[in-house]
Amino acid sequence: MTLIITDPRELHQRTQEERRRGKKLGLVPTMGFLHEGHLSLVRKSREENDFTVVSIFVNPTQFGPSEDFESYPRNMEKDLALLRKEGAEILFTPEASRMYEKDHSVFVEEVLLSKDLCGASRPGHFRGVCTVVLKLFNLVQPHRAYFGQKDYQQLQIIRRMARDLNVPVEIRPCPIVRESDGLAKSSRNAYLSQEERREALLLNASLKTAEKALKEGEVSVSGLRKKVLDLFEKSPLAKPEYVEFRHPETLEPLDTITESALLALAVRVGETRLIDNCLLEIPR
Ligand code: PAJ
Repeated sequence: MTLIITDPRELHQRTQEERRRGKKLGLVPTMGFLHEGHLSLVRKSREENDFTVVSIFVNPTQFGPSEDFESYPRNMEKDLALLRKEGAEILFTPEASRMYEKDHSVFVEEVLLSKDLCGASRPGHFRGVCTVVLKLFNLVQPHRAYFGQKDYQQLQIIRRMARDLNVPVEIRPCPIVRESDGLAKSSRNAYLSQEERREALLLNASLKTAEKALKEGEVSVSGLRKKVLDLFEKSPLAKPEYVEFRHPETLEPLDTITESALLALAVRVGETRLIDNCLLEIPR
């Protein structure tokens, strides 16, 4: 049975009762329009804990004024059916007015890892993410919380927030779930036309291209970046916003790959902004 809760206080009471009973609590924060990527997090939480809370909240504070907050895809009925099937114990789906008082004035800001990559084109985005995630951590006080590597920068920032603010939660990373043709699953894929959907395959193709080039000995970031950018050159619809090779933990830029690197991409396909990434490893 999945219990639906919309009131933050009720969520706190219910979860703390379970905690007092000695149950291990897992939290899966989402913005809904659930797909197999989200469900893989729910399954992992179900495996590792006694009680799983999934939140569905399209968080206004992480969207910029010209972003897709209003049009973000929503389908609560389908989401609920999926969560019932997975056996999540609680679905928390608050109204924005229940999460943010009219005069809400405290935010959580991570100032290093958030600076560039997605932070550069989405100012304030990670501040909104950190704020809502810390609120959810405080409400649920989970033992473990689950985040996808699809949003690699977000995962690192949340790890840093938990570490630096002494939040007693274990952050559990989960691998990227892809469509059979390689496109990373994303709620925003719903925006793509047929033609854009085909062009979106360039994201995964560029990760593969870089992996292959590295295997063949290309270790300079400028060489690898050129190979990736060349792929997009002929595409009328897919325009890279960034193609970055970073240290997997500090997210510092690299010139040469000596051990491993995060390759992170943001690409506009038509109006839709898609992200993807992979860890590149020098073969030993
Ligand atoms: P949302 O985009 O709904 O994603 C919720 C969680 O699902 C995130 O941890 C994300 O990394 C993970 N996820 C999405 N697509 C995935 C895929 N293809 N494979 C594996 N995991 C995937 O990320 C957010 O919501 C919000 O910023 C949130 C953390 C909920 C704060 O509002």
